[in-house]
Amino acid sequence: MAVEVLTTADGREKTALSHAHAAAWFAARKAGKSIEVGTADPPLRPARPEKPELLHPRDVPKRKPGSPQGRIAILHAVAHIELNAVDLHWDIIARFGHVPMPPGFHDDWVKSADEESKHFNLVCDCLEAMGSHYGALPAHAGMWRAAEDTRDDILGRLAVVPMVLEARGLDVTPGMIGIFEKAGDTGAVDALKTIYAEEVGHVAYGSKWFHFLCGRENLDPKDVFHELVQKYFHGPLKPPFNEEKRAEAGLPPDFYWPLADETPPRTV
Ligand SMILES: [Fe+2]
Ligand SMILES: [Fe+2]
Repeated sequence: MAVEVLTTADGREKTALSHAHAAAWFAARKAGKSIEVGTADPPLRPARPEKPELLHPRDVPKRKPGSPQGRIAILHAVAHIELNAVDLHWDIIARFGHVPMPPGFHDDWVKSADEESKHFNLVCDCLEAMGSHYGALPAHAGMWRAAEDTRDDILGRLAVVPMVLEARGLDVTPGMIGIFEKAGDTGAVDALKTIYAEEVGHVAYGSKWFHFLCGRENLDPKDVFHELVQKYFHGPLKPPFNEEKRAEAGLPPDFYWPLADETPPRTV
């Protein structure tokens, strides 16, 4: 099921399949007949539509948030992130099927993939309401790098994807919501608020299973997190951090502050 999603190129088709598989997974769980988790051979990179054109981040045109074109560019970038997130959540299931995990691990990532699929469609609906669509602009080419780098390392995957990249989403989304509030675009505000609320859960799942695996292997989670982020994430973490939402997601300051290029401000 996961590989089927990963090998579907079109965004609307990919997310429809993702919703259908998530529904089947949870229906089976509810009926007490869990779908067995096997092993699979996921592609190194998921299938992608012909458009958007993928560019090096430095070549993606800068956004001017004050204009409608700038707001389209922001939503286009978010749609691209959400599509990658759908694949990332199915990929962790397919890639690490050989690692014995409790069923809750798969529940969490199936639920996350289902939510990312909704996020992609919500943002695409907003783009279409503004006369644009996903694929109309170029997008970031480096989004899958973290997945490739951590394809053999489940702890590395958890550290970098939910606990660094998705946590970064918690830092930047309130500012984005502000931009669309100012523009009076209530459709985009509602979509971004849904995304913001549900992303806390994805970071929390990352932190939960990272701690679970460290506990199982008798490792110090904080030290291992620092080691793995330095190994797989290229560059420092960027403050300001959303400390409140990060705490809600089970990500304490001594995990991320030592990896930042600044020291924490003293607030007391
Ligand atoms: Fe999302
Ligand atoms: Fe997410």
